[in-house]
Amino acid sequence: MTEQKITTTQTGTPIASDEHSLTVGANGPTVLHDRYLVEKLAAFNRERVPERNPHAKGAGAFGEFVVTEDVSQYTRAAVFQKGAKSETLIRFSSVAGEQGSPDTWRDVRGFSLRFYTTEGNLDIVGNNTPTFFLRDAIKFPDFIHSQKRLGASGLRDADMQWDFWTLSPESAHQVTYVMGTRGLSKSWRHMNGYGSHTYQWVNAAGERFWVKYHFMSQQGVVPMSGDEAERIAGSDADYYRRDLFDSIERGEYPSWDVYVQIMPYEEAKTYRFNPFDLTKTWSKKDYPRIKVGTFTLNRNPQNFFAEIEQAAFSPGNQVPGTGISPDKMLMARVFSYADAQRYRIGANYNQLPVNQPHATEANNYMHQGNMQYHFPPAEQRVYHPNSFGAAGGPAVDAAAGVEASWESDGELVRAAYTLREDDGDFVQPGILYRDVFTTEDREAFHSTLLGQANAITIDEIRERFFQYWTNVDEGLGKFLREGYAAGAGDTATDIHESTD
Ligand code: HEM
Repeated sequence: MTEQKITTTQTGTPIASDEHSLTVGANGPTVLHDRYLVEKLAAFNRERVPERNPHAKGAGAFGEFVVTEDVSQYTRAAVFQKGAKSETLIRFSSVAGEQGSPDTWRDVRGFSLRFYTTEGNLDIVGNNTPTFFLRDAIKFPDFIHSQKRLGASGLRDADMQWDFWTLSPESAHQVTYVMGTRGLSKSWRHMNGYGSHTYQWVNAAGERFWVKYHFMSQQGVVPMSGDEAERIAGSDADYYRRDLFDSIERGEYPSWDVYVQIMPYEEAKTYRFNPFDLTKTWSKKDYPRIKVGTFTLNRNPQNFFAEIEQAAFSPGNQVPGTGISPDKMLMARVFSYADAQRYRIGANYNQLPVNQPHATEANNYMHQGNMQYHFPPAEQRVYHPNSFGAAGGPAVDAAAGVEASWESDGELVRAAYTLREDDGDFVQPGILYRDVFTTEDREAFHSTLLGQANAITIDEIRERFFQYWTNVDEGLGKFLREGYAAGAGDTATDIHESTD
């Protein structure tokens, strides 16, 4: 039996009623010095923090990551050494919808992973797709605006989405994923995750490798049909959130196998695609997947707000032996997440239980600010260098602080990446459409795209839409144009044979 606790004010004073305010007689005015009433209303008025912009709707769980293979030739990171076990946090999300939006709207899904490692928190903040819509961060706010709501009406708008996409040809690969079967999954448990960007690994000898993370669902990748998603969106907005929570409560713990693609450092200079361009994948023939281990989600949060809403993931959270790459998107993300979180949660967000390191400690000379919670021993100095030895505070260890690195020199310019041999925007989406999609995938894709053609109301944008898909595959473009002209909305047939 849990012992009954007494209700108190925020400072621990017992209170007499949670039902009656202090008033002048039973029917008279409420008095301002009802300190508990004022405190309760004030706390209520401050319950929300700004929702994430983007990826506002999501949920998450805790678990464990176990390394089953020896990848020490590629990285010295403790978290990736054979036999290592690390506490893990995951948050799944959709990108464009707000906090209350239906889980099953067609969208990319966020796949944010945190490993609480002995060398600090490692976050891999990825998606359920191996690519992205853009390759330069300066376009990111415009992209998100185009996916969210119109300024005047506050409505979502197909014209705006397709206007942006068709004026940004680098989006074609990712749009092919989103409009295909990966745009809708049976649940968050039934999708793969990807770090998407190229990251760097560094081994004990200091050798550098480029790496891409792949998280393969042990539950299988199972799509949801557009019709079912629409039906569920209208009846259970929290469908994916509920599925994850309930399956963990039932003891059905979802797992993902962790794989990496490894590219030797020097090969990046001459690979036929720019290996740092986030709109491209690396061929698995060129760089096969190598298994690392498995993570399993086995614990629901105790408190959604404290542990999931206030979770602050950042691609900048790297550990010795891992790091970022010269991907222009990734470099900007390192700035953007922590900046968003200082605003969204507050200056000391990393002191919250979910964000502080769990398998090591944070020690440095930063201090104070809103809501400081942790503080060092009284004898520690507030500055470095100081002459008080270990009692004066922490000291750096250059050997422990291994960072990713690469050579870089040149004039400051605003320019696109230099193109490689196979770098066309429509090469990989064409391959995805023709060679990776199954016949059923293509059928569903056709019907989704015809639905989109019908949702566009501006002729000029619809014309660009047909051209965009013609660039991906000529037969596809022709099929869409003809299907639209013939009044096709949701139905479509397989045209694969005619496009091979
Ligand atoms: C330069 C491009 C990008 C910028 C500036 C950007 C910015 C942001 C910001 C500000 C947030 C909210 C963070 C918070 O409030 O806690 C966010 C969330 C998120 N972003 Fe990005 N993003 C970019 C690209 C990407 C890419 C390429 C991916 C995936 C590969 C991605 C995946 C996510 C995910 C999964 C979340 C949700 C994090 C969570 O679960 O808390 N973003 N992004």
